[in-house]
Amino acid sequence: MQINVGVLFGGKSVEHEVSIISALQMIENMNKLKYQPIPIYLSKDNVFYHHKDMTDIEFFKNMDNLKKAKKVLISPNQNKHELLIITKNKLKKLADLDVIFLIVHGAQCEDGTLSGYCELLNIPYVGSTILPSALNQNKWKLKVLLSNYNIPIVPYFAFYEHEFYQDEQRIISECEKLGMPLIVKPAHLGSSVGIKKCTNREELVEAILTSLQYDTEVIVETVVQNLIELNCAVLGRPGEYTTSEIERVFQFDDILSYTDKYLRSKSSKGMESTCRELPAKINPELKNQITDISLRVSEILGTSGVVRIDYLYDEVNDELYLNEINTIPGSLAFYLWKDKGLSYSDLIDKLIKIAFDNYRIKNAKIYSYDTNILALSPNLNSGKLVK
Ligand SMILES: Nc1ncnc2c1ncn2[C@@H]1O[C@H](COP(=O)(O)OP(=O)(O)O)[C@@H](O)[C@H]1O
Ligand SMILES: [Mg+2]
Repeated sequence: MQINVGVLFGGKSVEHEVSIISALQMIENMNKLKYQPIPIYLSKDNVFYHHKDMTDIEFFKNMDNLKKAKKVLISPNQNKHELLIITKNKLKKLADLDVIFLIVHGAQCEDGTLSGYCELLNIPYVGSTILPSALNQNKWKLKVLLSNYNIPIVPYFAFYEHEFYQDEQRIISECEKLGMPLIVKPAHLGSSVGIKKCTNREELVEAILTSLQYDTEVIVETVVQNLIELNCAVLGRPGEYTTSEIERVFQFDDILSYTDKYLRSKSSKGMESTCRELPAKINPELKNQITDISLRVSEILGTSGVVRIDYLYDEVNDELYLNEINTIPGSLAFYLWKDKGLSYSDLIDKLIKIAFDNYRIKNAKIYSYDTNILALSPNLNSGKLVK
């Protein structure tokens, strides 16, 4: 019997289009004897749509096609899930759903929002749970956690928008203490959007103002010199992680830009089109260091599914820094597993199995506690009911 997989993609994020590419690539590589993919597209204004042709990139080239699609929602029944079409005055079943495959990138979707939605529905889902997803989507708060575990990260200073407007001089001088050149990033964004390098105070202020157009939290980091960018994916769930080959990615712009990541090849291939060396030609010590850190960090965060951990390496001074973690990497980083003997279709099998394992383990736990506390009729104004 086929497993019905609701493939949820799109979302209100600057990486909306990249998510469409990742999702359609994944659908193309699913073993259709095992799985029935059911596309569920989340528009930029957060409405779920379904149309059978949404498995074809042509559908999304003309957004007028959305008029042909049906508005849908997932039934909240805790044990049996259905995709429902919303018509004028009733809901009509379109399909049963066994599992949701989250394939979204960026803030307001990859950040745990949609994991939380699946948790509420109590449906198995491919992807990390809320906390690792949320942390990995915040470049600042992730660094706070990882520095506690002595994971190497670049020196940084981060702040909220209101702090900048309250005391701009203090924020600027804290940033300058790091030493120029600096790189300024909106804390929650991805795909290099809003990121700027600066070499003096004027550029720093300008870069901060750019970041503030996108985000209320900004992180400023020292620029790693003699830079080599190395990425490693990790597959699994707590206690069961494995690492992929390590890739080196090449930038042609000042930083590894949106263009470097997605637009260097003529076809729409998402992260698959980045210029890379795979496996990266690095010495065995560096390779072991990256593999060890990747496994440790996955355990610290408790990620699920496939994540890609990105490193910055100063090759002259032999200094390695963990830069960021992509909870749902572009193209699911499938290309990093090929040399490990895992095809894209095998990777999808493993991801769906992890989703069912997580669901089974979670639902075997006790979540309610029978109590007669309400029968005691507490006086809600007495202040005696202290949590
Ligand atoms: N501290 C740094 N030093 C040098 N280059 C950096 C640094 N941080 C980021 N970059 C460059 O900017 C790119 C995008 O930054 P990153 O933090 O990965 O954001 P995103 O989530 O948008 O990918 C990196 O791939 C790298 O090329
Ligand atoms: Mg990056």
